Amino acid sequence: MTNSNKPRILTGDRPTGPLHLGHYVGTLANRVKLQSKYDCYFIMADLHTLTTNFSREKTSTINERVRGLVLDYLSVGIDPEKCVIYQQSKVPEVTYLSALFSNLVTVPRAQRVPTLKEVMHDLNIEKPSLGLLNYPVLQAADILMVKANLVPVGKDQVSHVEVTREIATDFNRIYGEVFPIPEALVGDVGTLVGTDGQAKMSKSIGNCIYLGDDEATVNQKVRGMYTDPTRIKATDPGKVEGNPVFIYHDAFNPNKAEVEDLKARYREGKVGDVEVKTKLALAINQFLEPIREKRRFYETKTDLIENIIESGSKKARLEAQDTLNQVLKAMGI
Ligand code: TRP
Repeated sequence: MTNSNKPRILTGDRPTGPLHLGHYVGTLANRVKLQSKYDCYFIMADLHTLTTNFSREKTSTINERVRGLVLDYLSVGIDPEKCVIYQQSKVPEVTYLSALFSNLVTVPRAQRVPTLKEVMHDLNIEKPSLGLLNYPVLQAADILMVKANLVPVGKDQVSHVEVTREIATDFNRIYGEVFPIPEALVGDVGTLVGTDGQAKMSKSIGNCIYLGDDEATVNQKVRGMYTDPTRIKATDPGKVEGNPVFIYHDAFNPNKAEVEDLKARYREGKVGDVEVKTKLALAINQFLEPIREKRRFYETKTDLIENIIESGSKKARLEAQDTLNQVLKAMGI
């Protein structure tokens, strides 16, 4: 248990697959900064994946995906010496707390959470399971279990933090003060567009550059990137704003003079896509190289990865047991 007086942070990911540049820009870069300033907990929310992926085929590969996630974390510089990285299912107390909390949330309230409709629409789910309906309640249990003060999340997750605040407020009112009321920390970095120009880099769309992609893969993906569709020849003036190739140049090319030169020539029709993309691929590969190097270092150290998961989950579990004891005591159970 930490007795640091830094505010506590909880955030994390469902282990659904490898992380990509969109994750880096959207949250990983921020986590690397946060870990030195705050008391950070990073959850790998495997139980949450079950709400939509409950087939045996999926459940039997959870641990493998969790290990992949740890490798992604380590590769970008998330440091288990500075923060707690843990696997949700290794903290079974969270399901107990979730069960208690579910009595404080009405069914219509849970049905009003906007992500429910989105997931049902995206995955073609006609009738939600109780597990899916309960998704935000389980997330509330994650957050309150470690008594997090701040929850850095994307805009889409704010409604879950809202449910969490309601649960904490109701619990404190009914049974006595146990929980701090957590706040969502929504970053101001926009979502990274996909290589195909769609609004979001997403595994299900298949428009991602992964943190673990090798040089040849990056070259090939960048070559195939969507640019300005109205520009037919290299001599046509092109549009820079909203053009994915330039959005990526701005995000990953540290040579600002080169980027400005390319933009100016692109606007005038004085540069071909090939040059713009070759320079972009080079920049992304340079950006990814230290990340790949760390990955290569940790990749073979399977025992170390296991230890990180075990010791992080043990720490989180101590917090969870402590909180659960306080909860039961407050309730008089
Ligand atoms: N629902 C989050 C997502 O899909 C993952 C998550 C689970 C989470 N528990 C959490 C995020 C607690 C922040 C805090 O991105």
